[in-house]
Amino acid sequence: MNSVTEGMKNVLSRLPISSSTDKPDPVYCTNCGTERKQILKEIPLIGERWVVCACSCRIQELKRQEEEQKRVKKQKRIERMMKLSSTNRELRTMTFENYMQREGGEKAYEEVQDAVKGFEERENLGLMIFGETGNGKTHLTAAGANLLIDQGYSVIFLTEKDLFSRLRETKRFSNHESFTDIMKACLDADLLIWDDFLSSQKFSPEEKDWVFQIVNGRERANRPIWMTSNLSPKEFEDPRTAYRLDEKGRTWWRLIVNMNCMYNRATNYRAVMAMERMKEMNHPQNGKENEHDSNELST
Ligand SMILES: Nc1ncnc2c1ncn2[C@@H]1O[C@H](COP(=O)(O)OP(=O)(O)OP(=O)(O)O)[C@@H](O)[C@H]1O
Ligand SMILES: [Mg+2]
Ligand SMILES: [Zn+2]
Repeated sequence: MNSVTEGMKNVLSRLPISSSTDKPDPVYCTNCGTERKQILKEIPLIGERWVVCACSCRIQELKRQEEEQKRVKKQKRIERMMKLSSTNRELRTMTFENYMQREGGEKAYEEVQDAVKGFEERENLGLMIFGETGNGKTHLTAAGANLLIDQGYSVIFLTEKDLFSRLRETKRFSNHESFTDIMKACLDADLLIWDDFLSSQKFSPEEKDWVFQIVNGRERANRPIWMTSNLSPKEFEDPRTAYRLDEKGRTWWRLIVNMNCMYNRATNYRAVMAMERMKEMNHPQNGKENEHDSNELST
């Protein structure tokens, strides 16, 4: 036997291959215990041999690892982009734990909860919460986003203003972010949250095109968009709203057909907080008296 065949034999002895053509003893998976399939195969220079196949549990595990690596890579890329978002830190503090259920906000609350729980099943079905300023639209969607991020989904949270200004900025020579980077991230993220939709007074032709590209691209990729908006119910139903993005209403209808739209009737929470603070400042003796009492008791 020449040295090549010898060497080959040496290598084969370390592989899950039989030493003869006789049907070998069963081999069991060390992980799940099931018997591993063995097939008779033609090995170059050696002839037919029994080969032990990889167990399906091992193949699944490798596939899972590969998926996980891809997901981590994608999330890293999106995180790199999101670092530039100024409001990111505040958004991470908005959770369901520090969100109070308030009258008029029930439907929006349930919709976001459902969208988180059924994220996979809903596929590209997104949501839109519209209503008065300060009534918790951003807080609610950010709370949902945070749960999804914790589950490993890639989420991009952008206000309309921020998105447009960043896309516009890419035209400046010194800007590091490229237009395609931002666009790609907006299309690739498992979830895109578009905060303050239609907050622009007027859309430039370029901005209209960007909105269409994102809305159309995500629809094609079967991925959802969540939106918040200050539209009133009247404005929401006004046909003119649909034509703000293009003269045929293409973008608007593409969006709306893929969304559950909820009117958040809750009042302005910022105003409630401001009124409470004012009351406290104008009647400071209430708080002070109690403090004094407790001090006396403790000494
Ligand atoms: N139900 C709530 N429970 C706790 N905090 C709330 C609630 N609603 C609103 N807030 C707080 O009030 C502030 C305003 O809420 P948020 O930014 O979500 O309002 P918004 O509806 O997005 O307003 P805008 O339309 O102006 O963007 C935030 O600090 C938010 O955390
Ligand atoms: Mg908001
Ligand atoms: Zn196995």
